[in-house]
Amino acid sequence: MSRQKPLQLQLHLLLFPSLILLSVGANGVTPVNSTSSDLCPSYDCGDGVVISYPFWYNNTSTSPYCGYPSFGLSCSPDNETILRLSSDTYYVKHINYSTKTVTLVDADVMGNSCPRVRHNISLTSLVPQLRYPNYTTSNLTFFFCCSRFPQAYLNNYASLSCLISGQNQSYVFSSDAIPETIDWYRYCKDKVVTSVMRSAVLDALLSNTSGFSRALQGGFELDWGSLVDCRACENSGGRCAYNTNSTKLLCICKDKTGIWKRCSDFNIFLEN
Ligand SMILES: *[C@@H]1O[C@H](CO)[C@@H](O)[C@H](O)[C@H]1NC(C)=O
Ligand SMILES: *[C@@H]1O[C@H](CO)[C@@H](O)[C@H](O)[C@H]1NC(C)=O
Ligand SMILES: *[C@@H]1O[C@H](CO)[C@@H](O)[C@H](O)[C@H]1NC(C)=O
Ligand SMILES: *[C@@H]1O[C@H](CO)[C@@H](O)[C@H](O)[C@H]1NC(C)=O
Ligand SMILES: *[C@@H]1O[C@H](CO)[C@@H](O)[C@H](O)[C@H]1NC(C)=O
Ligand SMILES: *[C@@H]1O[C@H](CO)[C@@H](O)[C@H](O)[C@H]1NC(C)=O
Ligand SMILES: *[C@@H]1O[C@H](CO)[C@@H](O)[C@H](O)[C@H]1NC(C)=O
Ligand SMILES: *[C@@H]1O[C@H](CO)[C@@H](O)[C@H](O)[C@H]1NC(C)=O
Ligand SMILES: *[C@@H]1O[C@H](CO)[C@@H](O)[C@H](O)[C@H]1NC(C)=O
Ligand SMILES: *[C@@H]1O[C@H](CO)[C@@H](O)[C@H](O)[C@H]1NC(C)=O
Ligand SMILES: *[C@@H]1O[C@H](CO)[C@@H](O)[C@H](O)[C@H]1NC(C)=O
Repeated sequence: MSRQKPLQLQLHLLLFPSLILLSVGANGVTPVNSTSSDLCPSYDCGDGVVISYPFWYNNTSTSPYCGYPSFGLSCSPDNETILRLSSDTYYVKHINYSTKTVTLVDADVMGNSCPRVRHNISLTSLVPQLRYPNYTTSNLTFFFCCSRFPQAYLNNYASLSCLISGQNQSYVFSSDAIPETIDWYRYCKDKVVTSVMRSAVLDALLSNTSGFSRALQGGFELDWGSLVDCRACENSGGRCAYNTNSTKLLCICKDKTGIWKRCSDFNIFLEN
């Protein structure tokens, strides 16, 4: 079984004499300046966000896909780019391939003038390649439906006026500055931690409804790092690809694809 793939690939190489010629070169292939668009298809749902490596267009029939696992993006019915992770959906508002940052908006808050965040942001724990850029992104902690709160807070901290329920109030704080005067966890029904742009935090805290809504609609930024297993392939000008059914890594190089680690490995591979 394990021999099956190498054999297929050897056959593949024999069918392409140009590759054999390349393999004669002293240290393998000369690195190529391939851009992701050369090797992997890009896609645009219609909102101007270009889906390109290491992201890939997940149209369910794509296998093997060129990109990182969990970086599959789909299109919403209204042509917006979306990222689905476990049970959460995010709108992808912007991808900057040079700074390697992606801007996401939680679908639960999108287009809602009084958004009630429902889930903690768990992206970075679900997808290890996504990282939290401390300088641009901040966390807010929401306490919903609190039956007790210090009277002074009614003046000093804006309660979220559109989320008042009977006598109960809801509050938002910067996650690293939650006032400790009362046991929020005990007196509030729900606690949710979410992320916003650092530049939107003051607005969220200082104006009672529109501010936090604006901050949430503005989304938050995440960085991505390269997948450790892909580095050799990427550094040699290739692009990583995965088969949906297996965890085996493929390296897509100019004119050739294989289970080697890097584009210059295929002559080593021939000797096996
Ligand atoms: C490859 O990129 C380098 C640096 O970006 C450039 O100097 C070189 O001309 C490029 N080669 C090709 C074949 O495009
Ligand atoms: C899925 O995407 C690939 C690559 O963009 C494309 O070749 C294929 O036709 C698409 N399939 C469907 C069903 O949209
Ligand atoms: C691709 O999209 C389908 C349907 O939305 C989803 O079930 C699947 O998990 C996605 N695959 C990846 C690898 O993101
Ligand atoms: C989505 O894109 C398709 C194809 O480009 C287009 O026909 C359709 O009208 C768009 N739908 C919306 C809601 O913009
Ligand atoms: C990516 O970010 C850099 C630095 O902030 C900026 O100069 C560049 O214009 C951005 N590119 C895109 C496509 O937004
Ligand atoms: C969010 O995480 C906190 C722990 O940081 C937990 O107490 C809370 O129940 C979580 N909220 C939701 C909605 O899962
Ligand atoms: C970002 O902040 C978190 C929590 O304060 C910290 O654990 C982490 O090391 C910081 N990361 C960077 C890159 O500074
Ligand atoms: C915000 O929350 C995320 C997810 O829990 C965490 O990884 C990150 O370090 C937090 N950022 C700051 C600045 O505390
Ligand atoms: C107020 O909060 C308490 C405790 O969280 C809850 O039992 C009660 O149902 C809430 N009342 C309203 C009107 O939301
Ligand atoms: C909050 O909203 C109420 C009316 O909805 C307004 O009277 C009050 O001044 C606002 N407070 C702040 C801090 O914006
Ligand atoms: C993946 O596995 C499913 C079910 O096991 C099978 O129907 C499908 O053909 C496989 N796809 C590929 C590309 O191997």
